[in-house]
Amino acid sequence: MTLQQLLGIELPIIQAPMAGVQGSALAVAVSNAGGLGSLPCAMLGTDSMREELAAINRQTAQPYNVNFFCHEPPAASPEREARWRAALAPYYTEFGIDPDAIPVGPGRAPFRAEAADVLDDFKPAVVSFHFGLPSPELLARVRALGAKIFSSATTVDEARWLEAHGVDAIIAQGLEAGGHRGIFLSDDLTTQIGTFALLPQIVQSVKVPVIAAGGIVDAKGVAAAMALGAAAVQIGTAYLLCPEATTSAVHRAALKSEAARHTALTNLFTGRPARGIVNRLMKELGSISSAPPAFPLATAAIAPLRAKAESQGSGDFSPLWSGQNAGCKQLPAGELTRALAAAL
Ligand SMILES: Cc1cc2nc3c(=O)[nH]c(=O)nc-3n(C[C@H](O)[C@H](O)[C@H](O)COP(=O)(O)O)c2cc1C
Repeated sequence: MTLQQLLGIELPIIQAPMAGVQGSALAVAVSNAGGLGSLPCAMLGTDSMREELAAINRQTAQPYNVNFFCHEPPAASPEREARWRAALAPYYTEFGIDPDAIPVGPGRAPFRAEAADVLDDFKPAVVSFHFGLPSPELLARVRALGAKIFSSATTVDEARWLEAHGVDAIIAQGLEAGGHRGIFLSDDLTTQIGTFALLPQIVQSVKVPVIAAGGIVDAKGVAAAMALGAAAVQIGTAYLLCPEATTSAVHRAALKSEAARHTALTNLFTGRPARGIVNRLMKELGSISSAPPAFPLATAAIAPLRAKAESQGSGDFSPLWSGQNAGCKQLPAGELTRALAAAL
């Protein structure tokens, strides 16, 4: 049985869940076009999650994916927070921000029982995870809903681990990919390899279907991934300029500019490595730094700088997530989905 048959979708095109830059509208457009639309929930409270899922159900009868992060929330460390704020101090002065008025906050929540309660009412066809899998109890709840379970692997070891823990499909996330690395068994970035190196190795090592992600932006790229054994592709960056995405004005401008040719992994914005367009903060602090606290605690201290800079039309302090192939099309997402499948 193909992955399309397993999920009941027409095209092997999965729109990558992208927290912070999209909601239900993008997911609906992709699912209605025959792909698998995704709703990212890492930055949604349970009320917003419920509203977004209700909006999807109102606008499509097709299958869709609901996505969660599943990190272990770290203990707050006042020392690390103080070190981080000291690194940002010159910027607070530059923008006239009172650092004492900035709350310490988590930023992104992992999958939890309250989120599983919401899913009980919606029963999505697919639930996907980033950073491994949630606890066995929570995973059993998702499975009991009848949802197929996907998670990202960035190494062969992670793919084998996910298969051993019962996932229905593995997303092979190559180093080109925009946004957070799904890396979860190690923090050694030298293990991270490109999509066309990673994909065939994972295909050889597991029996479950493998979904290729990272750097794929057009029909030829989709066909190439399928030729290397992918059962489907998961595409993020290419959808960022679609009218249905909520990508900010500064992010859209960066994606359309020369700056998009320069991406790097950075842990500055959240505490975990993610690929984004190089901006002032990354240049000045170094894109991978020991200054930020553990994921996701780094976000709070940057938030006011980001807000101030964005209000002045600058992305200097924004996470401008992008893959290495910023071949974004300003097409409606349904059209883009069909175009991506045109060479199959
Ligand atoms: C803006 C942005 C946000 C992302 N947010 C998430 C997320 O919330 N959950 C997730 O599982 N993956 C997330 N990703 C990673 C994607 O799932 C996927 O691995 C990546 O987009 C594939 O590479 P590409 O961007 O080159 O297509 C994000 C990617 C981008 C570009």
